[in-house]
Amino acid sequence: MALDKPRSPRRPAARRSNFELASWLFMRISGIALVVLVLGHLFIMNILDGGVHRINFAFVAGRWADPFWQVWDLAMLWLAQIHGGNGLRTIINDYARKDSTRFWLKMMLYVSMVLILLLGTYVIFTFDPNISAD
Ligand code: HEM
Repeated sequence: MALDKPRSPRRPAARRSNFELASWLFMRISGIALVVLVLGHLFIMNILDGGVHRINFAFVAGRWADPFWQVWDLAMLWLAQIHGGNGLRTIINDYARKDSTRFWLKMMLYVSMVLILLLGTYVIFTFDPNISAD
């Protein structure tokens, strides 16, 4: 007569994934980047040189003529969207009780994330400072 092994057998390798570890790490790294990007953005837009009072179409056009601010805004868009979306994914996983509720909330989240990322990226790269009627 033999005793059972003290530990349950390991899961097959194919089912193991480091996704949650990568997502945990991403939240920390993107959080650090967001401190600089978002606080810098807030400072420039709301405090520097008269803040919001100087923001108009020409101001935006001038900023987006510079690749530096295009990259800044693009990085802020992607990092905030994926950071915020991944955070909401965690909250949905924590709180949704029914499998179907969890599934549909996450589907709505992913669709909204893709739409906002595509639309925002499209606007940053195709913004045209010369508005004309034709
Ligand atoms: C100032 C820069 C930011 C820093 C340093 C930061 C840092 C973090 C960290 C470390 C976590 C993980 C917390 C955990 O695992 O328990 C987190 C979660 C989260 N973050 Fe951020 N974040 C920042 C900006 C943002 C922004 C701009 C958004 C929204 C677009 C956002 C939305 C979220 C959400 C929804 C969660 C999930 C909260 C939860 O699990 O309870 N964060 N943040």
